[in-house]
Amino acid sequence: SRNPIVAIDGPAGAGKSTVTRAFAKKLGLLYLDTGAMYRAVTWLIIKKGIDLKDDEGLSQSLKELNLEFKVSQLEEQNVFLNGKNITKEIRSPEITEKVPLVASKSIVRKILTIQQKALGKDGGLVAEGRDIGTTVFPDAELKVFLTASPKERAKRRSIDLKNKGFTVPNLLDLEKQIKERDQIDSSRKIAPLLKSEEAIELVTDGMSIEEVIDSLVKMFRLEI
Ligand code: C5P
Repeated sequence: SRNPIVAIDGPAGAGKSTVTRAFAKKLGLLYLDTGAMYRAVTWLIIKKGIDLKDDEGLSQSLKELNLEFKVSQLEEQNVFLNGKNITKEIRSPEITEKVPLVASKSIVRKILTIQQKALGKDGGLVAEGRDIGTTVFPDAELKVFLTASPKERAKRRSIDLKNKGFTVPNLLDLEKQIKERDQIDSSRKIAPLLKSEEAIELVTDGMSIEEVIDSLVKMFRLEI
């Protein structure tokens, strides 16, 4: 039998990456950021100038896709595509805007979901995304739906962009972009963003990062 799996899903900007990484480190679990995989595919599609309507070109590129994750407890998970480190590039606003369109293509989801399941086959990992508890690891021992109000998420996203050195739009525009991304992610046909019945919902408005991590650790100890 495999080791436990924790599934953490939720909308854009809920602070999933930060808390999930810290939580994984605390419990000695592997950390899988599935959003980074969708971002890497989007990066490749833009780089190659592939039209999203061109299914043939899309499947060809996906065949050449060799994604590697260098997991380190010390720093951000590094993402390599065909040997090139694209960790920073995949966080750009251009990628962020385009990724939900790429993530709604069934061929893309099919291939990435297979890779994610393979990465989790022995368990002992925390996976973070939109469809982990519903589609990728429906048998996860603990499922959490991590969310916050759009206003709060816009604030966090603004700090995040600033720290990464990107231009920061005003808060209202950011909130609008976040809502648009949620809308596309929640309404797509395949594996949409939704809270599954078994998932414990955690609304993090007003909570510090430490408090969110502590709540996750408590849930883990209770459920597993
Ligand atoms: O989590 P992050 O913001 O990096 O995800 C970027 C995008 O990737 C999401 O807006 C969504 O369109 C897509 N995604 C997905 N399924 C996942 C993870 C991310 O569709 N499991």
